[in-house]
Amino acid sequence: MSFNALVLSETDGKISAAFTQLEEASLPQPENSVTVAVEYSSLNYKDGMILQGIGRLVRTYPHVPGVDLAGTVTDSSDGRYAIGDQVLCTGWRVGEAHWGGYAEKCRLNGDWLVPVPKGMTTKDVMAIGTAGFTAMQCLDALEWSGVEKGAPILVTGASGGVGSSALMWGAAMGHHMVASTGRMDNEAVLREWGASEVIDRAEIADAPAKPLLKERWAGCVDAVGGETLAHVLAEMNYGGSVAACGLAGGNSLNTTVIPFLLRGVKLLGIDSVMASFDERLRIWTRIADVFDAGKLAAITTEVDLADIADLASQILAGQTTGRTVVNTQR
Ligand SMILES: NC(=O)c1ccc[n+]([C@@H]2O[C@H](COP(=O)([O-])OP(=O)(O)OC[C@H]3O[C@@H](n4cnc5c(N)ncnc54)[C@H](OP(=O)(O)O)[C@@H]3O)[C@@H](O)[C@H]2O)c1
Repeated sequence: MSFNALVLSETDGKISAAFTQLEEASLPQPENSVTVAVEYSSLNYKDGMILQGIGRLVRTYPHVPGVDLAGTVTDSSDGRYAIGDQVLCTGWRVGEAHWGGYAEKCRLNGDWLVPVPKGMTTKDVMAIGTAGFTAMQCLDALEWSGVEKGAPILVTGASGGVGSSALMWGAAMGHHMVASTGRMDNEAVLREWGASEVIDRAEIADAPAKPLLKERWAGCVDAVGGETLAHVLAEMNYGGSVAACGLAGGNSLNTTVIPFLLRGVKLLGIDSVMASFDERLRIWTRIADVFDAGKLAAITTEVDLADIADLASQILAGQTTGRTVVNTQR
């Protein structure tokens, strides 16, 4: 049976994307394989990089991108999944080293799947996607390291996918969320999503580069990295923690050990891609506990698969807002 897929090809080092009818028999056949009729995918920063061929994340073409997917099982050699089950996949380098979710069908290793949590749809879990999952990992890590409810948690890159999700989840968990943004015209929206305060990112990025600055934050969800992360480290309260998950502003980190030595600041690295199945279940359970369909809809824009190539450059330029869920049937 044939199905529609967005297929990337490489010619003379240039990446191009085209809609192609593929036969189900052409899908890769991993161990423990489960075939999924994909209903929704999403747009993440990494999708933008893959669609534009940045960072050599994809080594073999032709390639089907899409790091996230959710849909219904149509065939399974894995005893944990039966035809008709609703499943989701984020991470495991799907859409990067393995064919991904920008298609009507995908075949995956059953170890990479998670059942769609009760009370959520395939569209809900893709509106959350890798970015929302990572935001909850960050908040979970901050709580684990001792950040208490009511203490200020800074969110950098607040208008983006990780940032918007962190504001939404953090406020629902009872935290005092502070949004840092380069788009102050989004202030009202950021407050609606969960920010109690909104600051201009220039306040952080333009602060003098000193080892220690005035203490401001008990926790930070950092999606930006680079100079921003260096300045945030200098502004952390005594004993505060930063969950570092992103590099939207750069992958360098030019800092000193002083915040760690004199203020006991903790820098927590967050990776969503290789998280274990048990960790995924735990984080999805935490998400399900605070899930509010109306609030999720407020941070989400639905687009068609046909729109995705144009959106790649926008997400890399920091021009998309909130989460983008992709309807793979259109
Ligand atoms: N560790 C993991 O497992 C993991 C998982 C998911 C994502 N990530 C990473 O997290 C980052 C954010 O992902 P995302 O999906 O949220 O991306 P996104 O939707 O593009 O959001 C990034 C946000 O960062 C801000 N920003 C963009 N360029 C900037 C710059 N040059 N300097 C300072 N701020 C800038 C913008 O927010 P404002 O306009 O509000 O400032 C932008 O909306 C990416 O680097 C991504 O690769 C990592």
